[in-house]
Amino acid sequence: MIKKCILSIALSSAIALCGVLSPGWAADKVRIGFLVKQPEEPWFQTEWRFADKAAKDHGFELLKIATPDGERTLAALDSLAANGAQGFVICTPDPRLGPSIVAKAKALNLKVVTVDDRFVGSDGKFMEDVPYLGMDAHAVGQQQGSLLIAEAKKRGWNLAETGAIVNTFEELDTAHQRTSGSVESLLAAGFAKENIFSAANRTTDIPGSFDASNIILTQHPEKKHWLVIGMNDNAVLGGIRATEGAGFKAPDVIGIGINGTDVVAELEKKEVTGLYGSLLLSPNVHGYKTAMMVYDWVSKGSEPAKFTPISDATLITRENFKQKLTEMGLM
Ligand code: GLA
Repeated sequence: MIKKCILSIALSSAIALCGVLSPGWAADKVRIGFLVKQPEEPWFQTEWRFADKAAKDHGFELLKIATPDGERTLAALDSLAANGAQGFVICTPDPRLGPSIVAKAKALNLKVVTVDDRFVGSDGKFMEDVPYLGMDAHAVGQQQGSLLIAEAKKRGWNLAETGAIVNTFEELDTAHQRTSGSVESLLAAGFAKENIFSAANRTTDIPGSFDASNIILTQHPEKKHWLVIGMNDNAVLGGIRATEGAGFKAPDVIGIGINGTDVVAELEKKEVTGLYGSLLLSPNVHGYKTAMMVYDWVSKGSEPAKFTPISDATLITRENFKQKLTEMGLM
């Protein structure tokens, strides 16, 4: 009787422990991690969602981990190895962590694929030997700039009375590529250099771009209209909020984001805002494909390409966002 009781307690605690460690743990399944720097961004939530889909379609397990700083990133690698993972996808919180992430992954025998933000080595150059999937940031930036100018012209703005706020985050190459591409397009279209104002963002979120944009608006009360540039949706949204705070109405502000995933609530608002639209990228492909790259690498030994470019960007506005997002399974 006592023996039976002990056995049943042992069994139930083993089951409970398994439940805590990993619901649906299966020893025979390949396990891989997917680490992202900003889990609060719909962009990264969408990547996770499609990586999960890949795991479901192909029968492997995906461990999603938020890694907003270096300490948590390195700790996550230990925990992946302890949980039997064989590799991981990462959008690093800081590209300069690249060398330590690669060294630790090697020591723990984990394969690494990077997404969105490419690792930078101690020599300041991209670590081109680490497989990377990302977009053509410069081209997307150029597209943002051209679309902003086209819309300003359509509204018949006097460009001499128009300012452009450029929310920059120079520490991150993909951000630099996008905002400098956007400025290039403005200049190529004849927009005056002295009307372009750089706003260095301290953080890559709405408060970061709000604060930096506010300073520019305060410094240039003479401008009647504003274009808002930034490396992604949040960088532009913060700028839009700042123009509202400074008393500008939607007809005098044009912002076009990049991502597309993070402007849904904005475009759904009843009142039109200064956010005209966004360049919708492919977080579904980023998530699904990188997860598959790691899975194929660990399960079949097929090493991924060192660089996989993803280049589609579609303008979404109030008119078409529901249709476009639905078509891509993102709504
Ligand atoms: C960076 C940005 C994200 C998203 C991706 C796209 O990581 O922080 O918001 O734009 O690039 O690759």
